[in-house]
Amino acid sequence: MNPPAKRIATLLVHQGQDRDPATGASTVPIYQASTYHHSGGVGQEFDYARSGNPSRRQVEDAIALLEGGVRGFAFASGMAAIGSALSLLEAGDHLIAPDDLYGGSYRYLTMMLPRNGIEVSLIDQSDPDRVEAAIRPNTRALFLETPSNPLFKITDLRSMVSLARQHGLLTLLDNTFMTPLLQRPLELGVDVTIHSATKFLGGHSDLLAGLVAVSDRDIAGKIKRFQNSFGAVLGPFDSFLLSRGIKTLKVRLEASEHNALELATRLSEHPAVARVIYPGLTDFPGRNLHFSQATGAGAVLSFELKDTSAVQALLDRAKLPIVAPSLGGVETILTHCWSMSHAAIPAVVKEQMGLSQNLLRISVGIEDIEDLWDDLAQGLREA
Ligand SMILES: Cc1ncc(COP(=O)(O)O)c(C=O)c1O
Repeated sequence: MNPPAKRIATLLVHQGQDRDPATGASTVPIYQASTYHHSGGVGQEFDYARSGNPSRRQVEDAIALLEGGVRGFAFASGMAAIGSALSLLEAGDHLIAPDDLYGGSYRYLTMMLPRNGIEVSLIDQSDPDRVEAAIRPNTRALFLETPSNPLFKITDLRSMVSLARQHGLLTLLDNTFMTPLLQRPLELGVDVTIHSATKFLGGHSDLLAGLVAVSDRDIAGKIKRFQNSFGAVLGPFDSFLLSRGIKTLKVRLEASEHNALELATRLSEHPAVARVIYPGLTDFPGRNLHFSQATGAGAVLSFELKDTSAVQALLDRAKLPIVAPSLGGVETILTHCWSMSHAAIPAVVKEQMGLSQNLLRISVGIEDIEDLWDDLAQGLREA
């Protein structure tokens, strides 16, 4: 009889490989090596570190397990993961992506892919009819991000998968905001899931990493070939740090999510705040759809201030959060999306997207909520 399937908290802690097979040590060691002895001139499972490394293999197996995929891949950054996954496209192909997406992805999709002969259309994917209308004879894939960043538009993953299947398209989803703890896209039929593991999976703002998991062996083979050829792989020390971060994802994310809901509620009642965008709020427009495909609201929220001058005042006065373009750490991170995470997007495009200069994003950490609130409230006070 097969043992019962393990639940997610257990998988996060033990992952695919939870000890060193050679010694029983409680962690897979940092295999700091660039090559491997070919005994008698014959290569073994590991032959050169760009092709494979046991520390990297450990996190690659972990993300495959957590996402329910057949194979995982670890890259030097989230962008390296996105670029490597998009190597599935070829010159002459057309890609449909969201019109509200992470600034670095926007830059890669609109400036780098066209140089390789790949056309990209940015479409509001919260409306499946618009996505369908954008499909052309050469459309090859849908690149998805839900919730979108930073406006939290929700895309119906089941509709996108069904559309993709009707038209023979690949689906790739940036699952950074949700992590496999809250959203498991491969189970809904998505082909490729991608993470900036720099964020919640790493969890401590001390690491740059990207992960990909795929549902199909043919796709896995293509990404493996690109990973080995291009070489933007995750190093052994960073693989170790990432594996360590993943072990505590559940307790970190649950604590952050709890704080995020409290902060979203208090911010929405604050007189300086025009609106708060957070899937956990009862009046969040895409709430039902979001919770039909994810089990939590996550720990990131955006809020818009009524007065533009209050934005700079808050960035100056906030002491507890790191003011920076990132998210997903144990510490709260406050981002002015216009000038930081989405700086790569031209001003006019940001305006069209509805991303205003008054918008701030908070990735809520695990600090005491009262300390966080005290700090934000003093930052939001009138001069
Ligand atoms: C949603 C999302 N995807 C991808 C990335 C890129 O990841 P990295 O900075 O690890 O390259 C980021 C970075 O902020 C992100 O927020």
